[in-house]
Amino acid sequence: MSNTPLRPDKRQMRAAFEQSAAHYDAVAILQREVADRLLERLDLLKMTPATILDLGSGTGYCSEKLATHYPRARITALDLADTMVQRSRGRFSRWSRLRRGHQFVCGDAEALPFADQSFDMLFSNLTIQWGSDLETTFSEMKRVLRPGGVVLYTTLGPDTLRELRASWAAVDEGVHVNTFLDMHDVGDAMLRARLAEPVMDMEHLTITYEEAMTLMRDLKTLGAHNVNPGRRHGLTSPKKLKSVLGAYEQFRRSDGLLPASYEVVYGHAWRAEQEDEASPHSPGEFAFSLDRLRGNHE
Ligand SMILES: C[S@@+](CC[C@H](N)C(=O)[O-])C[C@H]1O[C@@H](n2cnc3c(N)ncnc32)[C@H](O)[C@@H]1O
Repeated sequence: MSNTPLRPDKRQMRAAFEQSAAHYDAVAILQREVADRLLERLDLLKMTPATILDLGSGTGYCSEKLATHYPRARITALDLADTMVQRSRGRFSRWSRLRRGHQFVCGDAEALPFADQSFDMLFSNLTIQWGSDLETTFSEMKRVLRPGGVVLYTTLGPDTLRELRASWAAVDEGVHVNTFLDMHDVGDAMLRARLAEPVMDMEHLTITYEEAMTLMRDLKTLGAHNVNPGRRHGLTSPKKLKSVLGAYEQFRRSDGLLPASYEVVYGHAWRAEQEDEASPHSPGEFAFSLDRLRGNHE
C-alpha cells in the first residue's frame, strides 16, 4: 500500500481551474495526448452509447470528440469550474445543442446532479485525481451509470512530476507538487464502489522542456498546480526559485532537454446488468490489460 497522498483543497482547486479556462488549451499538451489515447480506446468498445457524461470536461475537448465519434449521442459536459463549462458549451453550435440535447453542467463529480442510471457511458480524462475521496467519485459514477454501461477514465500516478518534486525537496520541506494515488489504490476504490470487471493499465509519458521555468509556468496556467493542504502560502522568493531551477538541472538529458515525467493510469469498468454480477472482489483483484475491453460486451 502506498502512502496516502494529501487531498486537494476543493475550494482552492475550483478557483484555480476557474482562472485557467481561458489559457488552458494553449498549454494542455499532456492532457491532449492522454485524451487522444483514451479516445482511441472507444474503438475497442462493442457498444454505441446514447447518453454520455464527460466528467471534468475542462474546456470540452473530449466532449467535442465524443460527439463526433458518437454523432447520435447526447453529451453532458460537467465540470466543477463554471468558466470551463462555458468553454465546453462554446464548442457546440446552437443547432447541435438543440438537436441532440447536449447539456453543460457546473457540478461536482463527488455529488453528481443526475438521477440514478442516467448514462450509458462515463468518460473522464485526468480529473478524478482532484477529488477528495475516490471511492465517493466511483460510487457516484456507478449510481448514474445504466446497468451494462461503461466508465473509462485516466488519472495520474505517484511518479508524476517526480523531477519537480525532487527539485523542491532539495530546497525545502514544503509540499509544492501535487501527490497522486498509486494505481492499486485506484483499482481498490473501483472495487469497493462495486464497479464490475475493472481493468487498468499504466504508462509513463515524458514531456520535455528547455527550461524548468516553462514547466512551472505551464503547470500554473493549467490550474491546480499545487492545491495540497500542506502547501506554503505566499510568494516563492527569487532566491528559492533559483535554487529549485538549479536542482532541476541534475535531470538535464544528453539531448539538452529537461524531462517532466507523467505516470498515466488508464481504467475502465462496467456497471453489471445484475447487481450480484459485480461480485465483491478482494482488494487488488483487477485485471491489467485491455483484453477484457476487447473481448466482452459484444
Ligand atoms: C486537468 S483538467 C482535464 C479537463 C479535460 N477532461 C481535458 O481532458 O482537457 C481537470 C478538470 O477537472 C475539473 N474538476 C476537478 N475536480 C472536479 C470535480 N470534483 N468535479 C467535476 N470537475 C472537477 C477541473 O475543473 C478541470 O476542468
